[in-house]
Amino acid sequence: MKLLKTLLLTNTAENINKAAEILKNGGLVGIPTETVYGLAANALNGKAVAKIFAAKGRPMDNPLIVHIADFNDIERFNLVREIPENAKKLAKAFWPGPLTMIMKKSDIIPDEVSAGLDTVAVRFPSHPAAQAIIKAADIPLAAPSANLSGSPSPTTAEHVMNDMNGRIEAVFDGGACSVGLESTVITLAGEVSRVLRPGGITVEMLKDVLGEVEVDNAVLHKLANGAKAASPGMKYKHYAPKANVILLKCSDDEYIDYVNSHAAENVAALCCDEDIPSLKVKTFTLGKRNDYISQAHNLFDELRKIDESGKINTAYSRLPSTEGVGMAVYNRLIRAAGFEVVDLEKV
Ligand code: TXA
Ligand code: MG
Repeated sequence: MKLLKTLLLTNTAENINKAAEILKNGGLVGIPTETVYGLAANALNGKAVAKIFAAKGRPMDNPLIVHIADFNDIERFNLVREIPENAKKLAKAFWPGPLTMIMKKSDIIPDEVSAGLDTVAVRFPSHPAAQAIIKAADIPLAAPSANLSGSPSPTTAEHVMNDMNGRIEAVFDGGACSVGLESTVITLAGEVSRVLRPGGITVEMLKDVLGEVEVDNAVLHKLANGAKAASPGMKYKHYAPKANVILLKCSDDEYIDYVNSHAAENVAALCCDEDIPSLKVKTFTLGKRNDYISQAHNLFDELRKIDESGKINTAYSRLPSTEGVGMAVYNRLIRAAGFEVVDLEKV
């Protein structure tokens, strides 16, 4: 791949236009959203979108989310075959915001975006800079998270630079992401609406609007060998730091005892604030035990810090609760751990 000079664009009106120009010309820009940074390209230009896969090292069978800056953009850009009633209800309740809706795609969506599926994922982010860049470019933007494939998603412009310097034209610095974890993905293309990836908009919140909502089996469980993923991104070991993450299924006291009995220079605890005083290893905290929103916010940042510390090769964490936003933390952590869970009740 040719090495590019990656511009770091500060948050100014002039740079919004600069980012928009690069995108209109088929280039790639790392853009802030309220969830995580996205690696954006013109969603209607298959060649531009193909560069995203090369820059990230992303498997071509993993489709991308198309970002818009107004609900009416779905129709204006002719992105889908028809807008389901449930999409209108969810948009009214949660857009702009951390919710992605999958619908039957129109022919305008390049295969590079939909990875050969007959659907397209659409999101209207709430981050003002994301909205301003989409509006200035006046095109829908295909954007996966702006990390190298397999690494934790980036929540600051610096994270994007660390992964993408030399691979893309620019990174727009819109500050740290407020949610810190990718959007909830729900498919509306089948009979019953189904969550494919949990996020800041919880299953409980979706049920309040739609009534019936299913949760895909791959959200909390490893796919059986050879099974087809409804959301291709969910089949990979993902979000993983270089250090080995091991999840412990146990009580709070058992967690402390287990980690302390494995204490060593290269061992760490990915834990909650309340555990810190009792632990005899280096700690990386996700926040308070019952505060799932702050745990979601801190997760990727702490996973990156484990590697940045340089000497940790094993990090022990507790299997989180699946309640509310806890389900999103659970979903990302079991992937970071490559589904390695030690059940202390059974050993
Ligand atoms: O918060 C987010 O969603 C961020 C920001 C940048 O918007 N984007 C993001 O994109 O997380 P990405 O590519 O890292 O994750 C998109 C997920 C993947 O698991 C992908 O397989 C799934 O959504 N997906 C995309 N289009 C799909 C489709 N048509 N059908 C099923 N799954 C789809
Ligand atoms: Mg991603």
